Amino acid sequence: MGLTLNVSGLKKSYAGTVVLDGCSYRFESGSVYAIMGPNGAGKSTFLRLCALLERPDEGKIDFLDEDVSLEHDLSLRRCITLLLPAVGVFNTSVYENIAYGLKLRKVNKAETEETVLNAAEIVGLKDKLRRRAVTLSSGETQRMGLARALVISPSVLFLDEPTAAVDAGSSIAIEEIIQNITHTLNAAIILSTHDRELADRAADVILTLRNGRFS
Ligand SMILES: Nc1ncnc2c1ncn2[C@@H]1O[C@H](COP(=O)(O)OP(=O)(O)OP(=O)(O)O)[C@@H](O)[C@H]1O
Ligand SMILES: [Mg+2]
Repeated sequence: MGLTLNVSGLKKSYAGTVVLDGCSYRFESGSVYAIMGPNGAGKSTFLRLCALLERPDEGKIDFLDEDVSLEHDLSLRRCITLLLPAVGVFNTSVYENIAYGLKLRKVNKAETEETVLNAAEIVGLKDKLRRRAVTLSSGETQRMGLARALVISPSVLFLDEPTAAVDAGSSIAIEEIIQNITHTLNAAIILSTHDRELADRAADVILTLRNGRFS
């Protein structure tokens, strides 16, 4: 399902410090958006608010299905996901780590297996599914995180610095995965990054967050 995310007038302060100050943008499905901006600009905050993990002080976050705004309920939350720069790793196999979201959704074994294999193939981890996840390298762990996000076929996928701590080769692999996901899922992908080259290559639109707004 393709969803549009319409954000308007988002404001957020922490202990009196203004981080977001009237941030607005409309994100369409099937497109990749890169958010850039200096350290502390509010990129991660923006992603957490949009992923419904925190509430804004003011402003609206609307997920639109054919222009109908969806309730912020469990079924919507299951269509969106935020992948953080340091992927949480469970001390089980790579397979179990990738399958996590399917287990939560009580997906049956056969479907889980097919979905996990497919995601592992996309991220290039098919031959490592039986490995203990804690033995993966940083770049592989990052790709495992993408596979974990991918199995639930999100309508909107938020990626906070997806190429932090990975080398140039893995960075290109991640860019390819991002493109692949956009095409297969028709999802909106919104990522934050400090990597201008990644933004130029992977994103359809580059936004800069400065003084609490996009410019
Ligand atoms: N829960 C919080 N409590 C207090 N301050 C916070 C909280 N979350 C974020 N901040 C502050 O808000 C500002 C914006 O942080 P944020 O992590 O969104 O920036 P960023 O653009 O992602 O930066 P970076 O490029 O370093 O990741 C920072 O000054 C940060 O310390
Ligand atoms: Mg950040």
